[in-house]
Amino acid sequence: MCGIVGYIGGRSASPVLIDGLKKLEYRGYDSAGVAVFNGDVVEVKKTKGRIADLEKKLSAEGISSGCVGIGHTRWATHGAPDDVNAHPHKGGNGRITLVHNGIIENYIELKIMLEQKGYKFVSQTDTEVLAHLFDFFYSGDSLKAMSNVMKTVRGSYAVAVLIDGRPDEIIAARKDSPLIVGLGENENFLASDIPAVLKYTRDCYLLDDNQMALLKQSSVKLYDIDGNEVHKDIYHVTWDVEAAEKGGFDHFMKKEISEQPKTVHDTVTPRIKDGKVVIDELGLSDEDIKNIGTIHIVACGSAWHVGTAARYIIEKLARIPCEVDLASEFRYRNPIIKENDICLVISQSGETADTLAALREAKSKGARTISIVNVIASTIARESDDVIYTMAGPEIAVATTKAFSAQLCVSYLLALKFAKAKSLLSESDEEKYCAEILRLPELIEGILKTDSALKELAKSYADSENVFFIGRGLDYAISLEGSLKLKEISYIHSEAYAAGELKHGTISLIEDKTPVFAVATQSDLNEKTLGNIKEVKARGARVIALVGENHSAADEFADDIIRLPEISDFLMPSLAVVPLQIFAYYMALGRGCDVDKPRNLAKSVTVE
Ligand code: G6P
Repeated sequence: MCGIVGYIGGRSASPVLIDGLKKLEYRGYDSAGVAVFNGDVVEVKKTKGRIADLEKKLSAEGISSGCVGIGHTRWATHGAPDDVNAHPHKGGNGRITLVHNGIIENYIELKIMLEQKGYKFVSQTDTEVLAHLFDFFYSGDSLKAMSNVMKTVRGSYAVAVLIDGRPDEIIAARKDSPLIVGLGENENFLASDIPAVLKYTRDCYLLDDNQMALLKQSSVKLYDIDGNEVHKDIYHVTWDVEAAEKGGFDHFMKKEISEQPKTVHDTVTPRIKDGKVVIDELGLSDEDIKNIGTIHIVACGSAWHVGTAARYIIEKLARIPCEVDLASEFRYRNPIIKENDICLVISQSGETADTLAALREAKSKGARTISIVNVIASTIARESDDVIYTMAGPEIAVATTKAFSAQLCVSYLLALKFAKAKSLLSESDEEKYCAEILRLPELIEGILKTDSALKELAKSYADSENVFFIGRGLDYAISLEGSLKLKEISYIHSEAYAAGELKHGTISLIEDKTPVFAVATQSDLNEKTLGNIKEVKARGARVIALVGENHSAADEFADDIIRLPEISDFLMPSLAVVPLQIFAYYMALGRGCDVDKPRNLAKSVTVE
């Protein structure tokens, strides 16, 4: 995790760095710091806490108005989130200043080696090793030093370095952590993500793994790990920074929940033409689809919940066997991938370390890789054989909502496309389902209008200590998401259970007034789930049933009912998830939680 920024140009660097860090705060907010040249030496200010705390510190203590600097917002991996472990870190006798995003895996052996050479460590971070190691290799040639560092360390990194006595340059490098260079007029920028530089420029270089960048005020040069210059095309950003602002809402999460009709619309409409699914990005012919062996779906967090739903849908409609794996498990279990298997990777950020590693693992075993990604030109997008972008725009709240909804929609389209290619879907059914998918934005809009009822509902459950979610099939996938949303932002303990599993343990936790969310939107399974509702009710649970309009059987047993418009069962997840997001939002708000930035979490998990 962590976010890094850099600036070299004619302006005072520190406001530009702070500005960029604010756009990257979603990457971690345990501590923050900036380093700016003051003449020939580099001045550092850092503090635990958020960017706002750093700003306070800068206005109280001041910092050089120099025009070259780097900055960092941290999500702690090694060492507590305190002032000392905050970046930037110094190397040598202080002549090297460095910021880092990633994890150095062999830092202990390197630390021992450097200590034997007399280097003194002050922090518990792996990053300080990089700073000293750079100093160790530096004897006047910054590129050579960086190249040696890259060849010596194992792990992931995006780094930026300032060297005392060289106020005309920033040297940076990346491997397995994102890094971009923003190209300005007589000024240049460095950042972990594009929004940090968009205020100043739309032209960027997107660094690849094992590349270095040397930034000067009027030039940027890129090099491979051996120091050979490389030339890259300039990536011109066409989307808007405004899209990343709050736009009148109290929280990004609320704004993003309310953007779901648009997100769904933007994701599906270009891919439905004349009642048919058209996914131009997919490089598979009908013949290829017919020959698919197994689809290995890999993802983390909420994206994995989408994968869990996608499995039910693809298997049901297209009869292609699917396996769903947490990326962190898949990458280390030596998965069996056969000829004609494909790997479907789902990721909002396109930078999640485990998901990226899982993609590479699948590729190395010969699988064709298809990714569903939100962030354009992110690493996963670039490394996949085919990428289908969700059109959710920038998602800022740590807890995903609109990207989740967009990912679900791509899963529907893929399932229909596969089913059609395998002659398992008639033209009239394809047309019918496409029409329903095109109606989703309007139906979601309707659910958003029930906001105040959901707010009241949340109020009546605000004191809950434990909340359970149960469902079967697709309802189970959505239960997983509802439970995760609730626990990650409200800190209420919550678990989701396949309703049929309840009797194998969890039911022992149900006591008087324990809230149980029963998701029952699947017509073929509703009776079964109703049985489970009765079971928990008999043990004192307070049941909130999330059901389709026509499902009246639950009325008798539920304490509260949320009704959803009717649509084909496989599309129900798009409707069912919305009240669960809103419920979690108000539960968190009612408990005074920082909804957009829940404790200990970060938006983009770029370390494993
Ligand atoms: C973090 C986020 C989740 C997200 C997960 C996977 O945990 O908080 O919202 O689902 O990462 O991220 P990705 O960017 O790969 O979808």
